[in-house]
Amino acid sequence: GNNLITSSNHLRHVDFITNLPSGAGKISHLNAVVLGEASASEQADLVLPSQQFSSQALVPSHQKYLEMYMRSIQDPAGFWSDIASQFYWKQKWPEQVFSENLDIRKGPIKIEWFKGGITNICYNCVDRNIEAGLGHKVALYWEGNGPGFDDTLTYSQLLHRVCQLANYLKDIGVKRGDAVVIYLPMLMELPIAMLACARIGAVHSVVFAGFSAESLAQRIVDCKPKAVITCNAVKRGPKIIHLKEIVDAALIQSAKTGISVDVCLTYENQSAMKRESTNWQEGRDVWWSDVVPKYPYTCEVEWVDAEDPLFLLYTSGSTGKPKGVLHTTGGYMVYAATTFKHAFDYKPSDIYWCTADCGWITGHSYVTYGPLLNGATVVVFEGAPNYPDPGRCWDIVDKYKVTLFYTAPTLVRSLMREGGVSFSGCFLSVYCCFLMIRDGACFYEVILLIAILIFITITQYVTRYSRKSLRVLGSVGEPINPSAWRWFYNVVGDSRCPISDTWWQTETGGFMITPLPGAWPQKPGSATFPFFGVQPVIVDEKGVEIGGECSGYLCLKSSWPGAFRTLYGDHERYETTYFKPFPGYYFSGDGCRRDKDGYHWLTGRVDDVINVKGQGIYAFVTLVEGVPYSEELRKSLIMTVRKQIGAFAAPDKIHWAPGLPKTRSGKIMRRILRKIASRQLDELEDTSTLADPTVVHQLIELADC
Ligand code: PRX
Repeated sequence: GNNLITSSNHLRHVDFITNLPSGAGKISHLNAVVLGEASASEQADLVLPSQQFSSQALVPSHQKYLEMYMRSIQDPAGFWSDIASQFYWKQKWPEQVFSENLDIRKGPIKIEWFKGGITNICYNCVDRNIEAGLGHKVALYWEGNGPGFDDTLTYSQLLHRVCQLANYLKDIGVKRGDAVVIYLPMLMELPIAMLACARIGAVHSVVFAGFSAESLAQRIVDCKPKAVITCNAVKRGPKIIHLKEIVDAALIQSAKTGISVDVCLTYENQSAMKRESTNWQEGRDVWWSDVVPKYPYTCEVEWVDAEDPLFLLYTSGSTGKPKGVLHTTGGYMVYAATTFKHAFDYKPSDIYWCTADCGWITGHSYVTYGPLLNGATVVVFEGAPNYPDPGRCWDIVDKYKVTLFYTAPTLVRSLMREGGVSFSGCFLSVYCCFLMIRDGACFYEVILLIAILIFITITQYVTRYSRKSLRVLGSVGEPINPSAWRWFYNVVGDSRCPISDTWWQTETGGFMITPLPGAWPQKPGSATFPFFGVQPVIVDEKGVEIGGECSGYLCLKSSWPGAFRTLYGDHERYETTYFKPFPGYYFSGDGCRRDKDGYHWLTGRVDDVINVKGQGIYAFVTLVEGVPYSEELRKSLIMTVRKQIGAFAAPDKIHWAPGLPKTRSGKIMRRILRKIASRQLDELEDTSTLADPTVVHQLIELADC
């Protein structure tokens, strides 16, 4: 991507292809291709929620949805104030509920919701639930990396832990409006730290603990935190990652640009590493367990304006520097809570598990804030979903009796490869039995084959667990291809649980297009319809809105409470990136198709950003004339991405491409690159429209260079 290009003088052009990209992190790049779009017959396929499910659902029919949706569009102020009133406000917002300008031609972009209202999101997540009698209810179940390591916090215990940390932060001088960087894995201390910051009006910036020292330093330099909160190490699967060493390196780098951080609060993660082996800088580094437990269990709430910043979350942009997406308090609170409640059809008896890390927006809105604002019980999982084996997720589902399970298509696909009853396998085995009987096999031979079949079936990683507790499944991060959707629905959910395929972004704060599980028949692979208050429009390349069945660029035409308000310190970039491409609208950067029934089908990024997780990245690299390609250069390119962004973004394959397949008008034919990347060489189809068809043969020859 650009990070890569700016770091190497040798590179003229880089083209990334990503197979079914997903939403863990983004790196910028020049061209991305999304595979796995649904075919026409798949788009006509309807899966209805059961009568039983719909009858108990919060929104039980599409008529009810339409009624609520119409009100949310015709009277957004009334619709959202009614919902917002269910939260605690120290002082209610004045008459005007929101003000917005999304049209760049009319002046600066501005979005404000509930401005002048005074509240605190931590109070609403924790204290308010305790006052409502949920003090003894489990707020967080923590499941460690290794099976057998677990912990539980009730809402009252959570309050104590949050207050102790909030008191400590206040004591070291963190004040309302100050930034705090959190670089923690999925320990309970991560949501605790987020809530503690919110309680005292500090702005948290969680950095995913897979980012490199360089990325962390870049974020520290941008937001200039008063403190960094981390832990010494973490075990992910069998691997130990020394987080504190990464923080140390980042702090050295940020200090070089004049940004020094006074306090590095370090949690001792004993299951991964003892404190004696941790590098330490006296005066700056403080062990969490030496200080935090000494503070009182209560801490006064800092009451803040609805438009006070709540958090910054960095997301990669197409020019090297990450974008600090800024969310404010009141609107985000109302939106995260409401979307959670409706998209998962939340009931107080539910046990909810989202596999996302709090380092991403999904973990902000749907591990921490959304569920806790609803008084839900949340499972926080430290480990890797396939450790110690690919049955771990279903083991956790059964252990905690999880009812709502929210994950990413990439995980669904990887677990699909590992487990589930194979119907073709069963068919083949039955056919073998038939042949054996026909050819005169003895009774015992047939019995033996059936026994093997049963053994294979019961040892399948999914089916050997009950999963009876599951009620609703969720998907996020990328389009879920229909076959993965079906496996998730039929095998994981036993054809019983609706799937909420939630389309949204770091920038949107919460779900934008999503099924409400009891309301609509679903089409596998479609995110279906907009959430309340959301007005998606599809525009052509000139920015003209197109109606009916169509495809084009997905934009939004009015604000919603959870929208981000700016890019930290760079409002101009906010306007240029999101509001200038199609004046009058917020541009999502995604392509979308609307079918004849009005269902939305997301087709992936149309700009130069790719989402990275699970699947590999395949980079076609063109070098400056005369620069030789070598193994050393290949390694250094991969190392550059690892170092500058993080290991999770490193290309799995670098393919030296002296030339790229271009049409006569200069467009890169990515279809061909995709086929070469997946070695489907017999499916290259017509290459005669290329300016130089020999490029394709050259690329094939260089494939395993
Ligand atoms: O391309 C869309 C894809 O993920 C992008 C947002 O990425 P990020 O800000 O990292 O947030 C990920 C978690 C919300 C979108 O622009 N995306 C997200 N959810 C879906 C999706 N694409 C298709 N279907 C989805 N359900």
